Amino acid sequence: MPAYELQRGGFTISTQKARLQSEAIAAFLSRAYWAQGRTREVIERSIEHSLCFGLYAGDRQIGFARVVTDCATFAYLCDVFIDESYRGQGLGKWLMSAVMDHPDLQGLRRWTLATRDAHGLYMQFGWAELRDPEKWMEIYNPPPRVGVRSRDALRTPGVMTVQESCFGVEGQNVRLASQIMCRRPLPELRAGT
Ligand SMILES: CC(C)(COP(=O)(O)OP(=O)(O)OC[C@H]1O[C@@H](n2cnc3c(N)ncnc32)[C@H](O)[C@@H]1OP(=O)(O)O)[C@@H](O)C(=O)NCCC(=O)NCCS
Repeated sequence: MPAYELQRGGFTISTQKARLQSEAIAAFLSRAYWAQGRTREVIERSIEHSLCFGLYAGDRQIGFARVVTDCATFAYLCDVFIDESYRGQGLGKWLMSAVMDHPDLQGLRRWTLATRDAHGLYMQFGWAELRDPEKWMEIYNPPPRVGVRSRDALRTPGVMTVQESCFGVEGQNVRLASQIMCRRPLPELRAGT
């Protein structure tokens, strides 16, 4: 099927894979709460096997959305992102309407997505909370540690501090494994004592 393309002002939405700028997409995802720790290799494999929507200002990619789908019964929408400097001017809504209007995504029995706080965006396109959440199951494999909070550790010389960190990952607050953060000699053990 030929690439799906829409124009508005100086902006273009296109599903052409060759046009996607993986640098820009990786940069978006490195700032997204749900994709922390996603490697470049995983990002590229996910793009290869998905229906992807790039949003461009001239030649520069400034938005992205990815749909995992069989183009017949089901679609999972994810990685929806607009560059910070282009937000608040209707581009996210335009991208969403392009996704929902794509000819290969018509008549599907079900769409799903997960979001921490953008329900109000998706509700404008017919989305609603799960009707029967008790029927849904998942396998969730949290990614490896994506960051640490070190301030308390640095304040406590001499202590090998064990801290837990909490991060938003894939739309949930996930408590990640404890980390050994900081190791300094105790004052009474310094040289000469
Ligand atoms: C969410 C996002 C794609 C919206 O893009 P945008 O171009 O700024 O949005 P628009 O200007 O088209 O307007 C968004 C609409 O959704 C509403 N909305 C609801 N929740 C929102 C949220 N969490 N963030 C932004 N808009 C939200 C806005 O109020 C606005 O509706 P209105 O015009 O009726 O007031 C963009 O803010 C973004 O990339 N955020 C970071 C990544 C993210 O959270 N993606 C969604 C993950 S599920």
